Amino acid sequence: MLRSLVAAYLCLASTGLAAPTAETCDREFLKAQGAAYVAAQAGGKADGVKASSSVTYTQNFKTSTLSTGILATALKIDYNRTTYDTTQCATYTEIITTQSGKNHVIGTQIHYTDGAASKIETIVTSTGDWLFNPAGTLKYASQEAWAEIPEAKRDTRAVIQAAADAYLDLFNDKSVKVPWGNPCARLEGGSYVQPSCNVGVPSGIKNTNRRYVIDEVLGTCDVFFTFGGQEPDSHEFRVESGKLRYVHTMTVMK
Ligand SMILES: *[C@@H]1O[C@H](CO)[C@@H](O)[C@H](O)[C@H]1NC(C)=O
Repeated sequence: MLRSLVAAYLCLASTGLAAPTAETCDREFLKAQGAAYVAAQAGGKADGVKASSSVTYTQNFKTSTLSTGILATALKIDYNRTTYDTTQCATYTEIITTQSGKNHVIGTQIHYTDGAASKIETIVTSTGDWLFNPAGTLKYASQEAWAEIPEAKRDTRAVIQAAADAYLDLFNDKSVKVPWGNPCARLEGGSYVQPSCNVGVPSGIKNTNRRYVIDEVLGTCDVFFTFGGQEPDSHEFRVESGKLRYVHTMTVMK
């Protein structure tokens, strides 16, 4: 009995039937899901996101539900950009809306399992959050180039993540060597810091509980983490030839 089960399993494995996730999660799949998520947010129709029945959803790091969270509110979206992590089967999306009365800058990490969203975490910044100014965020984000990086020039996942981690580690350890790009621009809330990003980085701050979405094609790493043990935060990095080119930050003030 056991032998035949083992044989049956090996047979399934060798035909690839045992690994549906690997087949469904490629860049095209993630692009379609990213576009569906943005359209769902525009329409205020949470069911536009194909989610598993056991999906977990957090908004500003608090457990919530799709039907009561921001996805249930239609927003006029001025800007959206998504990155694709085919290794983890995940996306990160930045959304800016300057719509009067409902202006937000939103960052969302979505993980997919077996073709459906299994974990959605969203950071929704609003009036009162750190340097919140969506018109500024829109102005500067629209001027930047986050195009695909030619294959021969792409960095590895490890290099991209290390650049992001070095930056976030610097907040608590001034001896860390950060691969600063020159130029480098940081869009912090709606404020723009350039041509150096090595300005105004705080000290004595631990950035903990980091969750990453990494896209080697776009050279990006988004990190959700807890700023100084308190605030929900997203830092997204664009890395070119191993060096930091752009940083986008969102910090929710409690
Ligand atoms: C999202 O951005 C793309 C361009 O990158 C645009 O074509 C699309 O219409 C935008 N979606 C929404 C809902 O605004």
